[in-house]
Amino acid sequence: MTANIIDLGALSRYDISLETAFVPEVATATSLPPPFAPIEGLLSHPPLPEAISSGELRDKVRELPLYRPGDCSRLSLAEKRRMLVILTFVAHGYIWGNGVLPVIDRLPESISVLLDRLSAELGTAPLGTYASTVLWNSRRKDEAKGWTLDNVSIDLTFTDTTDENWFYNVSVCVEAAGGKALSSLLQVLFEIREDSPRRVHIQECFLEAQNSLGKMLVILKEVARMNNATFYQKIRPYFGGWSLVNNRGVHYDGVDEPSTYRTYVGISAAQSSLFQAFDIILGISHGEFVAAYLRNIRTHMPSSHREFLGHLETDFGGTLSSFIDHQPDLADGYHRCRRILRDFRATHKSFAKRYAVEPASFPGRSFGLARLRSDGGGVEGAGGTRLLEFLEEIQHDTMKVSSPSLPSSPVSSRGPGIS
Ligand code: HEM
Repeated sequence: MTANIIDLGALSRYDISLETAFVPEVATATSLPPPFAPIEGLLSHPPLPEAISSGELRDKVRELPLYRPGDCSRLSLAEKRRMLVILTFVAHGYIWGNGVLPVIDRLPESISVLLDRLSAELGTAPLGTYASTVLWNSRRKDEAKGWTLDNVSIDLTFTDTTDENWFYNVSVCVEAAGGKALSSLLQVLFEIREDSPRRVHIQECFLEAQNSLGKMLVILKEVARMNNATFYQKIRPYFGGWSLVNNRGVHYDGVDEPSTYRTYVGISAAQSSLFQAFDIILGISHGEFVAAYLRNIRTHMPSSHREFLGHLETDFGGTLSSFIDHQPDLADGYHRCRRILRDFRATHKSFAKRYAVEPASFPGRSFGLARLRSDGGGVEGAGGTRLLEFLEEIQHDTMKVSSPSLPSSPVSSRGPGIS
């Protein structure tokens, strides 16, 4: 197959920025055109979080006019993203309710038709995703400045808590901070492809990547400001995917056959394309179960990002690690990158433990990001993974030297499968 990712200039066609990677350069629109005023109206009088907690949202959704799929064809990309962000927040608020009202397993036609159409166009799964809660739901307060924690505003939340706001804020800043690591590691790949790779340039790129990965870790640690009870009890339930709804999923009225119920995993940063790109470039391979989970979760990413990962694998899978095997003088820079990524994953695992595993043993709403498995198998993540084992294995793989002769990782036989 011919190379698809020719140079850094080709990244924009995958909607990837040289500076901020998968965080888009063009901000999501702040409002929809007048024909969609009723959809914008779902966010005010009362504000969405209040409408969700009072139960009023369900009535408001049922009173919406019916739109046809083609009605959104004239919207700009930035407006389509705005519409998708609204519809996904409304869909999760509508389905999960307020914890007192029963969970609902049908999405009314007034939102299912547009949600189905827009998600197909933007290439994501038709429910809340990492893109709709983080990538397309954040903006810089001052566009002349970078993606720093004090310069981000979040458009929508389920709960109007500072904790939820902070969770998305930290996530988008981690993503943007990784932009330089992605572009410098890609430059290393392009250099290797040349007849005489410039070794000094490769070393500089590794340094730049380490710097950027280090910044990601520093920002991740700021998530510690979140209150874990608020996160677990109030926010997390809204991340739940349709596979957790009444054991059969959600029916999309006006779109699906009457007997069709859709099961999808919920909102998770595991849908970040950035970390999968690092794994491909650095040659980090995972055992069967983890690899299958991460591959499957790509269907929740925007299609342009999914396509990029596919092309990256085809064009450059294994390139860097094989090159480094024969270049001992460059190995240090390469391994340092892997070590920082491993440290990121170790720190992330400690947060998953604090915010998801530990509170899962307290009584409360039992669906969503993490829940205790009824078979005594520990705490399960949003995708049905055994959370700590899953994250432990990913962290371990990040430093593991790949070799075709090594047996695949043991978790593949313990994994519960993707829900
Ligand atoms: C309190 C904060 C957080 C919690 C409780 C948490 C929880 C989890 C859980 C349970 C998983 C396992 C997969 C799943 O079940 O969905 C996961 C995966 C993942 N999370 Fe987080 N997460 C947090 C913050 C973040 C942040 C801020 C980022 C950065 C953008 C992030 C990036 C990832 C990635 C990339 C994965 C996939 C595994 C990997 O490639 O290392 N998470 N997270």
